[in-house]
Amino acid sequence: MDKKIVFITGVSRGIGLEIAKCFSNDGFFVIGTSRSEFNLHDALSSDQCLHIPLDVTNRDQVSSCLSKLKEQNIIPNVLINNAGITKDQLFLKMKDEDWDDVIESNLTSVFNMTKLFIKSMIKERAGSIINISSVAGLMGNPGQVNYSASKAGLGGFTRALAKEVASRNITVNCIAPGFIATDMTNHFQGEDLDNVLDQIPSKKMGNPQQIADLALFLASSKGDYITGQTISVDGGLYMS
Ligand SMILES: NC(=O)c1ccc[n+]([C@@H]2O[C@H](COP(=O)([O-])OP(=O)(O)OC[C@H]3O[C@@H](n4cnc5c(N)ncnc54)[C@H](OP(=O)(O)O)[C@@H]3O)[C@@H](O)[C@H]2O)c1
Repeated sequence: MDKKIVFITGVSRGIGLEIAKCFSNDGFFVIGTSRSEFNLHDALSSDQCLHIPLDVTNRDQVSSCLSKLKEQNIIPNVLINNAGITKDQLFLKMKDEDWDDVIESNLTSVFNMTKLFIKSMIKERAGSIINISSVAGLMGNPGQVNYSASKAGLGGFTRALAKEVASRNITVNCIAPGFIATDMTNHFQGEDLDNVLDQIPSKKMGNPQQIADLALFLASSKGDYITGQTISVDGGLYMS
């Protein structure tokens, strides 16, 4: 496949939007999704892109998305599973729906989206799948049993699938961000923010560009001998 086409879930803001900009600047055609309507053309200042309103937990919407892409002959060779949510609560108070929503949005969605494109990647004998995990999946965060479990699950998903498809020239990796300045973390203010920064050896939050740069590297030929890995971008917060 000569055309570089990337499919990114959750492009309407934060890390997903920055990944979309980074791949667009590198010459990729960008297919981006979010539940909300979003003007990706304006955000990327490019017509080499397509936004599809899509809930990654809704299997009907996911499969109809593939039909749309087939009609336009734009099947991606890079998939970035970025969409994710938090519903934080101490375990004793965690409601069943807080568990279900987070596991469906962060883990089952990755199964849904990967199933959609893996066959064409195998046929083309080329592809890269990048799952945006979290340091919470490696170290565990109190108040985030659901989120930590969903992100730890992504690590197992990634390693198992990487072994299944490596011989077909497909890489599967996770990026595990630490504290990155986006809407997801902007509730940390004042003393709470100081407490967070205190735990990070580099004493600063990361930015979405740092995640996007690594995603682009992993999707490029420079990264094609890296597979099954979870790579942290966290200012030293978690060291194994
Ligand atoms: N920020 C951090 O510090 C941090 C740290 C570690 C890991 N991460 C991970 O990085 C990823 C991006 O985080 P972020 O900070 O950029 O979050 P964010 O600013 O809250 O953006 C999340 C994106 O995901 C989309 N989304 C959420 N649920 C969706 C669903 N069911 N279907 C489709 N799209 C959905 C949202 O769009 P709509 O609301 O329009 O659907 C939005 O575009 C997440 O997986 C998160 O867990 C973030």
